[in-house]
Amino acid sequence: TWTPDSFVETTVAELKEKLGNDKVVLGLSGGVDSTVAATLISKAIGKNLYCIFVNNGLLRKNEFENVLDQYKHMGLNVKGVDASARFLKELAGESDPEGKRKIIGRVFIETFDDEAHEIKDVSWLAQGTIYPDVIESVSATGGPSATIKSHHNVGGLPDFMKLKIVEPLNTLFKDEVRRVGKSMGIDAELLGRHPFPGPGLGIRILGDITPEKVRILQEVDAIFVQGLKDAGLYDKVWQAGAMLLPVNSVGVMGDERTYEKAVVLRAVESTDGMTADWVNLPYEFLQKTSNKIINSVKGVNRVVYDISSKPPATIEWE
Ligand code: XMP
Repeated sequence: TWTPDSFVETTVAELKEKLGNDKVVLGLSGGVDSTVAATLISKAIGKNLYCIFVNNGLLRKNEFENVLDQYKHMGLNVKGVDASARFLKELAGESDPEGKRKIIGRVFIETFDDEAHEIKDVSWLAQGTIYPDVIESVSATGGPSATIKSHHNVGGLPDFMKLKIVEPLNTLFKDEVRRVGKSMGIDAELLGRHPFPGPGLGIRILGDITPEKVRILQEVDAIFVQGLKDAGLYDKVWQAGAMLLPVNSVGVMGDERTYEKAVVLRAVESTDGMTADWVNLPYEFLQKTSNKIINSVKGVNRVVYDISSKPPATIEWE
């Protein structure tokens, strides 16, 4: 019978055999799959696993620093690459959702390729692909591997795509990945993280992306997500986040009329992201969260809660 412990034991032995003294490169996303894949491979080959964690400037507030720190404490050989400025520069002026996805995917690949070139004699590319990704071919939950897959047919292949592929999780479902992670001692908080799309806040800022909009949305999102955690609601929700709308609305502050941004809060229940229901969050929680956002995030004067299910709506707004 399958147990997480036996899976770890067999897989580590197989990886040792397969990889020997070879060098392997892997893109970490902060998500569950890439983290569990990296931990398994690292158990087998140690420092010969080179992990790369790219900051695309569209991560959650403080996410890059916090997750990088966590990875280092876990003993992973990881290099953090802050490419925020480059992503934001290339995205400037683009407001089409697919256009933004293409730019983010391309710049990720270019950044990753440059970094992979720094590693001498690397022969394998590891990915956190799980079984549902194999059948659907495009990951619902994202991360670097999904980005690579959906964009690798554009133009010539970057060099790292010519590497041999190792995907130790490609027979597992998500809950099994979490159990395997737990059996290797990965932090429960990390394993319980909500899915987060590869293009990150880039597809939650409707319309064009500017550093100021990223700042606003990071603040709003952080208040919402921390609020869910504090209220014990985070684990009851499958995915939650905020969207920044490309409209201003009129408000009033003191004697002044304001004309500022409106944000959307979205929380859904789902099992695989294919269908989803909006979560009936307590009014009191919504009230508290809305007050906190409007009082502390400069540039926002209106908060709305999304009560649409998928289908016909989608989880993301773009
Ligand atoms: P939708 O909006 O299609 O989202 O209902 C379903 C799930 O997929 C995630 N998502 C993405 N993940 N790249 C990703 O890696 C993307 O471009 C992308 N678009 C949506 C979304 O967050 C949800 O979990």
